[in-house]
Amino acid sequence: MGKKIFSGVQPTGNLHLGNYLGAIKNFVQLNNEKENDCVFCVVDLHAITVSQDPIELKNNILETVATFIASGIDHRKSIIFNQSQISAHAEAAWILSCVARMGWLNRMTQFKEKAGKDKEKASVGLYSYPILMAADILLYDTTHVPVGDDQKQHLELCRDIAQKFNNDFNANDFFKLPEPLIQKNFSRIMSLKDGLKKMSKSEISDFSRINLTDDKDVLVNKVKKAKTDTLPIPSTVDELSERPEAKNLLNIYSSLTESTLESSLKEFSGKNFSAFKERLANVLVEKIYPISVEIKKLLNEKNYLDDILIEGCKKARKITSEKVKKIHEIVGF
Ligand code: ADP
Ligand code: TRP
Repeated sequence: MGKKIFSGVQPTGNLHLGNYLGAIKNFVQLNNEKENDCVFCVVDLHAITVSQDPIELKNNILETVATFIASGIDHRKSIIFNQSQISAHAEAAWILSCVARMGWLNRMTQFKEKAGKDKEKASVGLYSYPILMAADILLYDTTHVPVGDDQKQHLELCRDIAQKFNNDFNANDFFKLPEPLIQKNFSRIMSLKDGLKKMSKSEISDFSRINLTDDKDVLVNKVKKAKTDTLPIPSTVDELSERPEAKNLLNIYSSLTESTLESSLKEFSGKNFSAFKERLANVLVEKIYPISVEIKKLLNEKNYLDDILIEGCKKARKITSEKVKKIHEIVGF
């Protein structure tokens, strides 16, 4: 039987290689499996949990759609839409927020990281963010959610919320409990400057990440400047355990070339990093640069991107309005 897939990406700019290898590349594979029904959502409601410039947000929504298409998602097969246009998401999030418990949310590590030291100043939206994410997933009877490793805890919360709703309202099996789909070895791509920090949109130094819109020479330059160590490349995975930067670059190479870390080590063991980096830069130019070219081309066709969203919203509205109707009945509205 096919899977029902749902995933979301925030339109907050600077989509990077971590987003691609941790999530979007997986979306493309799932889109290509004939029997799956996929929904890929630009989660603009999630984006405004931290302050956004309205003009930039609008551009970033289209850039995220362009990235989906440029990476190989087919909008005729999968539903692509933006969350704010389907009011069922915000409505279901409210209802689920009456099911979720404060104690559950208090455990969420992403809130703690994003809110930083001054939690009193964080938006309430940032705190209840995982409930909106649960609403996204549960409205579509999703069976599988492809995400990076950082979203695992939010998915566990989503399952808890679904289960409690089903129990509280005696609605056995009404919300399906979704499974995470996390790429085993490549679910956490690290910064090019610090192998212990996640590659991230918000990191100030652009040299910490590979953006999906980087030009050829920028790609090559970023790999050249990426932090490594002075030892040659080892022959076993164990020997990489204390060498986070080396491991990260080899992981990136393995993921891009569809190989395992073990086989990449076999290819490069005993060589120094300059030879490896040259090869890695070539692979990035071969695999990522065409996406960058395509994103830029699509961004000149804004009407086309708008039409994709309009078409996706139509399909999403149909699915969610039926589900919301049933939620109303169950809750007693
Ligand atoms: P953010 O990039 O701020 O974490 P996004 O909504 O843009 O948030 O993330 C989109 C997807 O990319 C999510 O599935 C997330 O887990 C994944 N992702 C983000 N950063 C990385 C990373 N460094 N390595 C692997 N996956 C990542
Ligand atoms: N919270 C996710 C992130 O930051 C984005 C997201 C929102 C999402 N809704 C979702 C991911 C539903 C998977 C399913 O990456």
